Amino acid sequence: TRLSTQEPWAMADAHQLELALLNLAINARDAMGDRGTLMIESAERLAADGQGMFVVISVTDTGPGIPPHLLEKVFDPFFTTKPVGKGTGLGLSQVYGIAKQSGGFVRIDSQEGQGATIEIWLRSSSAEPEEKHAPAPVRPANGVAQARILVADDDGGVRTFICDCLRAAGYEVIEAADGQEALQFLTQQAPDLLIVDFAMPGLNGVDVVKRARQQVPDLPIILATGYADMKAVEAVMAPDRILRKPFRVDDLEAAVALALGQTEQAEIEK
Ligand SMILES: Nc1ncnc2c1ncn2[C@@H]1O[C@H](COP(=O)(O)OP(=O)(O)OP(=O)(O)O)[C@@H](O)[C@H]1O
Ligand SMILES: [Mg+2]
Repeated sequence: TRLSTQEPWAMADAHQLELALLNLAINARDAMGDRGTLMIESAERLAADGQGMFVVISVTDTGPGIPPHLLEKVFDPFFTTKPVGKGTGLGLSQVYGIAKQSGGFVRIDSQEGQGATIEIWLRSSSAEPEEKHAPAPVRPANGVAQARILVADDDGGVRTFICDCLRAAGYEVIEAADGQEALQFLTQQAPDLLIVDFAMPGLNGVDVVKRARQQVPDLPIILATGYADMKAVEAVMAPDRILRKPFRVDDLEAAVALALGQTEQAEIEK
């Protein structure tokens, strides 16, 4: 990290900003493969076009960079160069949306072969928050206390993303790298909710759901599935317990709240 010592302020939703940073860091990690340097910086800078001062948060990696002909495309929803099942192509479009919503913008600085820097520009704000060092908000939906959620997904990137989103939303999370590991955990204790991916080597999501129900009969379960065999999935899951990939963070949070009985069905369907 190389953080500004001036402690400049900007106005944004802390939870969303965290997700944006997380997306950029995951992209940087994916771009670098085995080794490299990830740098997160903050600074106050004057916008070139007379818009005044901005707080710039940037994420830099030493990966292969983004080729010029892709620079315009990378913000498009669903644009990805990652193999099927790896990237949803929603990361950067989400970052773009978050910056826009906060009255700012995003810039990419990248030359092929020389790494990439993605900058989030947020308008400087003179107002300090009331509580200067307030911790990131924990948001138990509708005032219901934290729940413990077991997440089983063999794809480390997807699993980390889901888990980080859930933690940011105030849930306690246990990670399992496959179905076997999840079932093993269930023999010891029952979480409040299980989120399981369909396409996994060994036991698939449906196998895990069936066995989990035998072990813990009233355990709420959400099955996440992309392409998958919807017939096999629909045979064992109620429609509102299927999370269709690619999903947005909002979809995940809504499905979780519903499964935990924290939301009215009508609210989800609106
Ligand atoms: N730091 C980076 N270095 C090189 N290429 C990048 C970098 N960040 C993004 N890209 C390119 O932009 C594409 C789109 O990124 P985006 O984050 O939107 O989707 P994704 O990472 O492919 O999938 P997702 O984030 O949904 O898992 C990537 O597939 C990759 O080709
Ligand atoms: Mg990404």
